[in-house]
Amino acid sequence: MSEGASELSYEIREIVKKAEQLKKLGMEISWENIGDPIQKHHKLPQWIKDIIADLMKQDDTYSYCPSKGMLETREFLAKQTNALGGVQITADDICFFNGLGDAISKVYQFISRTSRVIGPSPAYSTHSSAEAAHAAHEPITYKLDPNNKWYPDVDDLYNKVKYNPNIVGILIINPDNPTGMVYPLETLKQIVEIAREFKLFLIADEIYINITYNGARAYSLSEIIGDVPGISMKGISKEMPWPGSRCGWMEYYNRGQDKDFNNFCQALDNAKMIEVCSTKLPQVAIPKILGDARFKPYRELINQRIGRRSKIIADILHTVPQLTFNETFGAFYNTIIFRDGTLRPNQFLHIENSKTKALVESWVNKPDGKPLESIQMDKRFVYYLLAAKGVCVVPISSFCSELQGFRVTLLEEEEEVLIKTFTAIRDGIVEYLASN
Ligand SMILES: Cc1ncc(COP(=O)(O)O)c(C=O)c1O
Repeated sequence: MSEGASELSYEIREIVKKAEQLKKLGMEISWENIGDPIQKHHKLPQWIKDIIADLMKQDDTYSYCPSKGMLETREFLAKQTNALGGVQITADDICFFNGLGDAISKVYQFISRTSRVIGPSPAYSTHSSAEAAHAAHEPITYKLDPNNKWYPDVDDLYNKVKYNPNIVGILIINPDNPTGMVYPLETLKQIVEIAREFKLFLIADEIYINITYNGARAYSLSEIIGDVPGISMKGISKEMPWPGSRCGWMEYYNRGQDKDFNNFCQALDNAKMIEVCSTKLPQVAIPKILGDARFKPYRELINQRIGRRSKIIADILHTVPQLTFNETFGAFYNTIIFRDGTLRPNQFLHIENSKTKALVESWVNKPDGKPLESIQMDKRFVYYLLAAKGVCVVPISSFCSELQGFRVTLLEEEEEVLIKTFTAIRDGIVEYLASN
């Protein structure tokens, strides 16, 4: 096994193994762990399904496609980016992948082992794990500050870059998973300036770029990057949403500005060529769906609904004094932090069912009943919440963070269920913190 292999972990799905054990004991689980709108009962409108069904009736959708992806689709996407008025690209600057997950696992692979890409903390673990695995070292991160609306701490980023000559790139995730923060324009400009000063390249994961609400607007990398080299990553898993399509793409900006960067983009294209190509059907569907006049109003409506849920969740949780709670403005997650000193190793939630109680205690305590020291305190809370209230959330310590808290999703479409779930979370927190 390679040295980097131990850096791979994905708590967003690991927690499911625990929840499945409880499900076997008869528990009903509310899945707040994963950002899959379809799993949370979102239904694509009929007109989108009709477009996809019609494409499936055409013989040529069953073949391979060009390695970088369908030319017509890449031309369509290049035009969309160019219309923003920033950096200009052609179809040749776009390469398709089997979901952004595939793109993320490749983008760090072709950077030399000692060169590092600094990313936000809390970190979306697909990025931080892949980057750490390439370097066989723990991730290097800059702080998102929960006491300042989760905005990036630009001084922290500047200093880390300045004092670590191995850093060759900066990752931004905008809007952010797991915090739901949208990078302010000024901050983005400052990050571009840091990249320019230290001759770095930028990676922007923009899978949520069109998912903003309650008055926010996310600025794309293409709009603010100027002549700095960079890669934007986009996809349809969240926006359409069609996560099962496994379809995402990279857009390369300013390839001509730097020979190394240009070679790097070429290596990414070549890696896809070795695999032959990515999934074709969703690529063919993209211009037909995103280019349809019905798409924008449909997306706006879903965004409004997420915004409304964001406010409902804020109403329920922001009153708990032991929490640091920030309202969200993009993507569909929120990260809620326990204030320092509020979590302690011997807290618990009352669990009626003796089998369930024994199971959760086997996860959080040693055989002698004393708390397991190796388990993070937010994970302990998350396990109790799961076992006592049936709500599955993800501990924030699993997102490369020293903070203690948890991530929830804003995806529950039924308002009554949403209110019930978040009231259960709040009651769980209050009861847990008062238990010891
Ligand atoms: C920030 C971010 N990037 C990438 C992905 C993966 O997307 P895909 O379904 O295209 O692999 C996710 C999925 O949750 C995400 O949150």
